[in-house]
Amino acid sequence: LSFIFSIFMGSCGFVSLENNLSSSLFPRNFLFGTASSSYQFEGAFLSDGKGLNNWDVFTHKTGTILDGTNGDVAVDHYHRYQEDVDLMEHTGVNSYRFSLSWARILPKGRFGKVNRAGINYYNRLIDALVDKGIEPFVTITHYDIPQELEERYKSWLSPEIQEDFRYYADICFKYFGDRVKYWVTFNEPNVAVICGYRTGLYPPSRCSDSFGNCSYGNSEREPFIAASNIILSHLAAVDVYRAKYQKNQGGKIGIAMNAIWYEPFSNSTEDKLAAERTQSFYMNWFLDPIILGKYPAEMHEILGPDLLVFSKYDKEKFKNGLDFIGINHYTSYYVKDCIFSACEQGKGSSKTEGFALTSAQMNDKSIGEPTALAWFYVHPQGMENIVTYIKDRYNNIPMFITENGFGTSESSYPTTEYELNDVKRVEYLSSYLDSLATAIRKGADVKGYFVWSILDNFEWNHGYSIRFGLHHVDFATLNRTPRGSAFWYKNFISEHKNLA
Ligand code: NOJ
Repeated sequence: LSFIFSIFMGSCGFVSLENNLSSSLFPRNFLFGTASSSYQFEGAFLSDGKGLNNWDVFTHKTGTILDGTNGDVAVDHYHRYQEDVDLMEHTGVNSYRFSLSWARILPKGRFGKVNRAGINYYNRLIDALVDKGIEPFVTITHYDIPQELEERYKSWLSPEIQEDFRYYADICFKYFGDRVKYWVTFNEPNVAVICGYRTGLYPPSRCSDSFGNCSYGNSEREPFIAASNIILSHLAAVDVYRAKYQKNQGGKIGIAMNAIWYEPFSNSTEDKLAAERTQSFYMNWFLDPIILGKYPAEMHEILGPDLLVFSKYDKEKFKNGLDFIGINHYTSYYVKDCIFSACEQGKGSSKTEGFALTSAQMNDKSIGEPTALAWFYVHPQGMENIVTYIKDRYNNIPMFITENGFGTSESSYPTTEYELNDVKRVEYLSSYLDSLATAIRKGADVKGYFVWSILDNFEWNHGYSIRFGLHHVDFATLNRTPRGSAFWYKNFISEHKNLA
């Protein structure tokens, strides 16, 4: 502990990194939290009646995860949740975003029984949070779904899943809604669909070849089929919540999108339109139908009949289908138009991405500093830009930054001492929060911010090789040790919380 204390107080630059934001920039009752997900945290993959999910099956196949690992144990949050809630308390957060494992609650979807042990686990976790005054902020599904649904009817490719999701969400509201006041139906459905049905990097690994070289028929339509089933599943859950629970329980329901800031590469009209189009094919693809009742015009223009349109019956469900927008924001990209100008042959995307070239580095320009992850460049201005974009497009519906965080690898932090003294993460969080504060000052209705994540954990295709934690986890012993960023966040929160 004295070591930790010394890195916090010592000459490593923390004092100089302290924020200089005025305390009035975050509204009263702003949620300052951290985020996690069931597959990345819980472990206990077959304990107490949990069913197999799509990620259990996927990670057990060779070659799917870079370091050959899986989430069988993860950080064992299932057994160590109390210790982790204590860490959150020490970090001073007033909210915790986590997800429910669908297969822990319904091992066989609606084709089997509710697993009481699963319900009991989440009751214990929620009670532990409430006991410490930490607001539970619950994601109903964060990529993991019962394998049964994959095997019975190909999950998101079938409209049948809408009924499964509605049934599952109803159970979640029924058992946990007395204490849970914030619900997120889906985490990053845009990423789930792109990686599951376009690049093949996530289950169900459709299109195993690289994008643009799909090796099976009809592949170009699958992301749009999966997306429409997710959108309708979201609306089904919102319907149930509003009809049966919202009045009595008094909570709010939304969705969390992966939100990249797309910066036009040049000032040309073509590049500006291309950046707009890319956003429409990425984030607005889901938010427009849910909030505005229709797909973005650019999608109709480019995809024509390949874009599944909603039936008249389905359309009746579209009525401002959320209470808040969750924004998972990490990075920004440049965009070049690939219809009318600028793309070198072979480098532009196909119509399923809106004919635009997106990249963090173009010619000799880089959008920001690269990180340990190829997709991730540091560009703090992107936070203000994306929040403002969403505010303007959707009439300033309440927003939460449901994720923001910084990933490192062993090579960026070669020794434990260096790793615990994570100055780069502090710089990142501090600059992104500063940018967020600017958006709020200019009128954006942002009500909370969650760091990904309280602990190092299972980073999907990267396994345990990429670390996002405010606390370091030794994956051999599962010991948790606070990094400098945990102390920094604590300090930041104490300076900014509840001040009007
Ligand atoms: C977004 C995802 O929701 C989360 O699961 C992931 O670990 C982080 N980004 C970092 O990549």
